[in-house]
Amino acid sequence: MTKINERVCPVALSGSLDNSIRRWLQNPRKILGPYIKEGMTVLDVGCGPGFFTIEMARMVGKSGRIIAADMQEGMLQKVKEKIKGTELEERILLHKCGENNIGVSEPVDFVLLFYMVHEVPNKEHFFNEIRAILKPNGQVLIVEPPFHVSKSAFEETVRKAREAGFAVVERPKVFFSRAVFLKKS
Ligand SMILES: C[S@@+](CC[C@H](N)C(=O)[O-])C[C@H]1O[C@@H](n2cnc3c(N)ncnc32)[C@H](O)[C@@H]1O
Repeated sequence: MTKINERVCPVALSGSLDNSIRRWLQNPRKILGPYIKEGMTVLDVGCGPGFFTIEMARMVGKSGRIIAADMQEGMLQKVKEKIKGTELEERILLHKCGENNIGVSEPVDFVLLFYMVHEVPNKEHFFNEIRAILKPNGQVLIVEPPFHVSKSAFEETVRKAREAGFAVVERPKVFFSRAVFLKKS
């Protein structure tokens, strides 16, 4: 079994996940605009340094809430530093996941899983937990990097999500990615 620090993206590489080039190629507002509405509660699992978290917090507005969840404390610290002293501090709840469970009990409308599902060893358990956290009609966007995740590996992930009780709604186009948008069925 691989060790956690060999499996997950290290905090030292977090700069490559949040920079202006990525913002240009994978604009969070363009990618998430069709799904995120004002007032929603959103769970960003594997939030990393908060590239999507922060923009989603703006999109849900004052009445919404983002739960930024990661298993690495160092990633959560990066998010904390970025929002310190801003109005987003009140909208973003930082949550440290366990090694084998997400551990969020608050029901959410939308879950973002961006470039992180391939780092999860037990996807069956993971999708079951996501389903339990979601409100009825809850939605999930999975986006994976094509270098790390082959087409067949991605389809295997989609199959496991379906088995856990999700239905495929669409296959959105996201730059340099494989993506699927799912609804709780
Ligand atoms: C490649 S980074 C992507 C970060 C962010 N979603 C983005 O696209 O910028 C993957 C992140 O997922 C986190 N992660 C991996 N497995 C996880 C799990 N089972 N629960 C929570 N976080 C996890 C890692 O710690 C890392 O911060």
